[in-house]
Amino acid sequence: MDGSPLERRLAAIDRASTRSLTDQLVGAVLDSIAAGELGPGEKLPPTRRLAELAGVNQLTAGRSYRRLAERGAVVSEVGRGTFVRAGAAAGGSARATGDASWQNYVLENERVSSAAWILSELAAHSADPASELIALSASYPAAEILPTDLLAAASTSAIARYGAGSFAYGPVAGHPEFRSELARLGRARGLDDDPASILVTTGARQAITLATRVVLRPGDKVACESPTYMGTIDALQAVQAEILPVPVGPDGFDIDALEALLRRHEIRLVALQPRLQNPTGCDLSRNGRERLVELARQHGFFILEDAVYADLRFSGRDPGPLRALAPSHVIYVDSFSKTVAPGLRAGWIAASGPVHDRLIAEKRRDDAQGALLPQQIMASFLAEGHYAEQLQRARAFYRERRDVLLNALDRDLASLASYTRPAGGGNVWVTLDQGCDDSRLYHDAVAAGVSFVPGSTMLVGRQQATHLRLSFGLLDAESIREGVRRLAAVVRAHRRELPALGSLPVN
Ligand SMILES: Cc1ncc(COP(=O)(O)O)c(C=O)c1O
Repeated sequence: MDGSPLERRLAAIDRASTRSLTDQLVGAVLDSIAAGELGPGEKLPPTRRLAELAGVNQLTAGRSYRRLAERGAVVSEVGRGTFVRAGAAAGGSARATGDASWQNYVLENERVSSAAWILSELAAHSADPASELIALSASYPAAEILPTDLLAAASTSAIARYGAGSFAYGPVAGHPEFRSELARLGRARGLDDDPASILVTTGARQAITLATRVVLRPGDKVACESPTYMGTIDALQAVQAEILPVPVGPDGFDIDALEALLRRHEIRLVALQPRLQNPTGCDLSRNGRERLVELARQHGFFILEDAVYADLRFSGRDPGPLRALAPSHVIYVDSFSKTVAPGLRAGWIAASGPVHDRLIAEKRRDDAQGALLPQQIMASFLAEGHYAEQLQRARAFYRERRDVLLNALDRDLASLASYTRPAGGGNVWVTLDQGCDDSRLYHDAVAAGVSFVPGSTMLVGRQQATHLRLSFGLLDAESIREGVRRLAAVVRAHRRELPALGSLPVN
């Protein structure tokens, strides 16, 4: 023994101690790192040598290295050996002081996508009603349109009716009466699903997550509308799918672009919102709907149809769900978050065939079941006919706000940008005439007291122009007008800059 500090510590291991040998060995290495005797990247003795030095068997030595690796202190590389990890000393002292920074050495590096980043920003910006910030970014329903009294009454009657049954475990697929009401609602919209085809989820967001997990494996190819809802991009990234963008134009999802992709790729899933798409508000054309379904049959892919905004149509005819055309191909995702109350987290999936059973299995794996009371509340809300009344109120309410936003844009932004004029939904998609760095624009806008969603967080792949999503649901008329005034001033200030697209991480 050459008597290095680590070796001296190992030699001092006490076989008579009540502390296990593994624990002592791990402690010796950690103490050596904390004392600076072992530096970052330094090679540790091979397992056999460690066992000799500590007077333990090789199994104990190997187990000790595994424990050290789990704690983020060392890293073992096949064929090379075991090394002290960079930052392991900080990890060691953090453990001692109860600080959580050691976790950074144990957890895998996280790459926060721009889609996930903006979702957390939105939640922060709309959490504080007293905030001075005008959140044109948040596509959340306004408090005054939530049917709070009706939901409170439905809650009281559900508890009176079900008693402890409102607070018990329930079926994985959801509360039976809620599923029956959802099937009835679907029939009124041209779907042919019986309650057994419906799986209740925690919002449409969980529905999207479950569908992507069931259908996709890492590396599978997905044709995804671009721009789209950030939660869909986030869910696709989480399963490590390869996301191929399909542009959304005035006729919605570009079927020619999808056909071109299908010639070169084996696509497993097509993800889109065929009606009142977030963020553009566009519908997929009638011809596009028929071609898409035909392609799904020919090529054998699933369609993930997100219909979260579809019931908020202010004018024109609803073309109805795509699922009605091809139930064995279309996984239909919906929720009452935009129409009734997002906090109920009342969402659902309608799907047929083996994929339906797998979705139920995935739901069980994820959270076993959703809370029953919100489902019972919504079952009675639907059964008593309140949904139709609520839709009528919500459509009038949001139509007025859309008009306020469009008028404000016409006044302040028309010379700087073009924008969609949606027939419903909650969002307007703005394209600036002159490109600029949307992340800098965003930060300057927030500093000026207004927020928007940077287009790059809703786009898949390269962006061709600078886009902003503005939402009209949450804010009253005066806030919308003031928000647009502030935004126009910030855009004007950026106009002199050279175009610098895509500074936010591209998804
Ligand atoms: C298009 C779209 N799909 C799904 C969701 C998620 O909805 P939920 O709040 O029901 O989870 C949203 C939320 O904004 C959305 O815009």
